[in-house]
Amino acid sequence: MRRDLGDGYELDDDPRRIDRETVHRYLTEEAYWAFGRPRGVQDELIDGAARVVGLYYEGVQIGFTRTLSDGHTQSYLADVYVLEEHRGRGLGVELVRFSVDEGPLVDTKWLLHTADAHDLYRKVGFTEPGDRLMERRS
Ligand SMILES: CC(C)(COP(=O)(O)OP(=O)(O)OC[C@H]1O[C@@H](n2cnc3c(N)ncnc32)[C@H](O)[C@@H]1OP(=O)(O)O)[C@@H](O)C(=O)NCCC(=O)NCCS
Repeated sequence: MRRDLGDGYELDDDPRRIDRETVHRYLTEEAYWAFGRPRGVQDELIDGAARVVGLYYEGVQIGFTRTLSDGHTQSYLADVYVLEEHRGRGLGVELVRFSVDEGPLVDTKWLLHTADAHDLYRKVGFTEPGDRLMERRS
């Protein structure tokens, strides 16, 4: 599934198109939650994902999401990023919307963790958890 966002930007959920080296470099060097994640682990996470979405500018990977899901009831959104030089123009919201709302997992219950991008996720329907959600931290 692909969506043209105009101005050279495009979303695509074809896993074969993911630039694994670029995604791994960003996540391990820039993302606070994945510092030091080995390349082999990152490859396994991509291979085992229900869906990976790439955000591309003129064909070059500039953003990413990874979704774990049982395919029917529960999905979890992870490893969301947009490269810094492309931020602030609505691409993050479109990337998350495409990952969550456009595709086979739209009717599942979605979960995610974030340290600071709460406003972005609120725009796509995420809310603070109610008293039914519990977490066991690693
Ligand atoms: C979070 C991230 C993906 C947002 O990408 P982006 O393309 O700049 O997002 P958008 O331009 O679509 O932002 C849309 C809205 O989200 C909100 N938002 C975006 N980033 C935010 C942040 N870091 N903190 C709080 N709100 C944020 C803004 O309120 C913005 O609303 P506005 O347009 O009314 O100002 C990007 O900043 C990023 O990759 N950050 C580093 C990695 C990260 O933190 N990922 C999320 C971890 S779960």
